[in-house]
Amino acid sequence: MQKTIPVWDIWVRLGHWSIVLGIVFQQISGGDAEYIDVHATVGILLGGWVLFRILWGFIGPKYARFSSFPPPNPIRAKESLKRVLTRQPEKVPGHSAIGGLAVYLFLMLIFLTALTGMSSSDDILFDGPLAPLIPAAMVSLAGTIHPILSDLLLAIIGVHLIAITWHVTVMKEPLIRGMLTGRKPAFEQEPGDPHAFSSVIFLKGLIYSLLTLGLTYGIIGIYLRW
Ligand code: HEM
Ligand code: HEM
Repeated sequence: MQKTIPVWDIWVRLGHWSIVLGIVFQQISGGDAEYIDVHATVGILLGGWVLFRILWGFIGPKYARFSSFPPPNPIRAKESLKRVLTRQPEKVPGHSAIGGLAVYLFLMLIFLTALTGMSSSDDILFDGPLAPLIPAAMVSLAGTIHPILSDLLLAIIGVHLIAITWHVTVMKEPLIRGMLTGRKPAFEQEPGDPHAFSSVIFLKGLIYSLLTLGLTYGIIGIYLRW
């Protein structure tokens, strides 16, 4: 049996699988007038998750923190991509250089998709909660960009799934198990972070996720909408 260490805390994992469900739902419900209210609610919560994940990137346990991601520079990213293509696993428990960049891209894209959704209007049945606050030209631009961003998000998800499949099947790295159980192979140079699975982290994440999601939905969903 390969030795493993705790890497992804419960909030990284819960967040990941919740946004997977949320985004699948958004793709199915988007553009269907019957589901527009649920689409808006789930979209606002996805925006709230991005805020939580950014906060968690500063106050969460070691491997959730942006400071533990390899520095996002083009040379390291190129090296990291080369390693993937030549099937040489990067022996790091957290995100690889290219994986870290993908996280930033996901956060930006999900946030912008949610933001343009909140700013769009169909002029008949639906006004996004931010639409009454901005000039008409921006509302119209948001309505044009929203479907483009959601398609771009879909494309990046496609690349993500191909990359994960490659890592798991060709490079024999148990990444999916890692995102399910939180544990990944231990590499000698890394001490691991048992703290990631502590009840303090559980409570801290619970409080901050409720705060960020509650504030986002409270301000954007409830206060601005009704
Ligand atoms: C809507 C679809 C998806 C989106 C938007 C998405 C997004 C993300 C994000 C943002 C992360 C970084 C997690 C963090 O640090 O907080 C991540 C990591 C990961 N995702 Fe996904 N994901 C999607 C679907 C999937 C699926 C279907 C699988 C597996 C079958 C998967 C497997 C993984 C794994 C294994 C990691 C961790 C990689 C590592 O160990 O470095 N993802 N994903
Ligand atoms: C990450 C979050 C979101 C995703 C992935 C998403 C995805 C989508 C998709 C795939 C469509 C269909 C586009 C088409 O017809 O080709 C759509 C349409 C729409 N979405 Fe979203 N959406 C998100 C957030 C939101 C939010 C927060 C709101 C409003 C509060 C919103 C409001 C709308 C509206 C009004 C439409 C129909 C008009 C249009 O095409 O612009 N969406 N969305």
